[in-house]
Amino acid sequence: MKKILVLVLTLVMIFTAAGCSSSKDQESRVGPGEKGEAKVTVGIVQIVEHPSLNTIREACVEQLAAKGFKEGDNLVIDYQNAQNDQTNLKTICQKFAVNNYDLIIAIATPSAQAAAGETKTIPIVFAACTDPLGSGLVTDLDHPGGNITGTSDAVSAEKIMELAKRITPDIKTVGALYSSSETNSIAVIENLKAYAKENGMTVIDATVTNSSEVQQAASVLTGKADCIFSPIDNTVASAMPIVAQVANKAKTPVYVGADSMVKDGGLATYGINYVILGQETADMAAEILNGKNPGDIPVRTMSEMDIYLNQATADAIGITIPEDVRAEAKEIF
Ligand code: TRP
Repeated sequence: MKKILVLVLTLVMIFTAAGCSSSKDQESRVGPGEKGEAKVTVGIVQIVEHPSLNTIREACVEQLAAKGFKEGDNLVIDYQNAQNDQTNLKTICQKFAVNNYDLIIAIATPSAQAAAGETKTIPIVFAACTDPLGSGLVTDLDHPGGNITGTSDAVSAEKIMELAKRITPDIKTVGALYSSSETNSIAVIENLKAYAKENGMTVIDATVTNSSEVQQAASVLTGKADCIFSPIDNTVASAMPIVAQVANKAKTPVYVGADSMVKDGGLATYGINYVILGQETADMAAEILNGKNPGDIPVRTMSEMDIYLNQATADAIGITIPEDVRAEAKEIF
């Protein structure tokens, strides 16, 4: 009898203990729809203020909510903008690491590089990094490994130049306007130079180190080149209205890497949709917050590309965009 009592008591204790630990597990994980005390903490770092990066961030936060991580509800977002300053970038990422946030979303290549330099444990999801391999963020796109993965906005300089030739067929000299410190731009410029070599064109470089140098660099190019080409460069993008002003005055067409740069006065691009990119970045972040290992999630590259044109710019420089190009355009600003 005593033996049975001991056995029953033992069994009761085991079940109680098991029950406790499983309910504790559930409490400590704040999944979609659960409203616990614990909140998920996400640090968002953005290199600079320009329309494309803002679009990415807004789409990303919206999509996180759609996936059940709602700011002010079960999610705390610490958003920081580095104002295109490397020292700020480092300070922000160091703070994110010290605060031991659950996840870091790094918008644009310089932000991702800074975040990767500060933590090897907190999951990092990068957004819109043109060349994640060349920028040293991952060594394998399909199996990133470690604590980092994200989305890439790789575009083709060749495709943009093919479009440029359809609009302005007589291009012999291309003026490349970009930041010498942005590895995302370097990749596209190398691509441009290879294309130019094969097609008998010359490329002249005008590099900048910050946005205050953009106006001068653009002026130098308008005097020498038949068109300006600017890749998906954060520094140029943040000064794009100035580039457009200089180029329009000189009647030089500006071909760019992103739709927002066309909206801000560039003539044309063949580029990706950054709202979708922002959403996909959030999908990856949500997967990780739900328990997946970042290193096991392949880097996503956008496959859909479209033509974007600026009619006001075409008018200002006296160019008629061929009807077939206009018909193919996704959007004409
Ligand atoms: N691709 C850029 C990078 O890797 C970031 C970026 C996204 C961007 N959209 C842009 C830059 C539009 C200029 C314009 O850093």
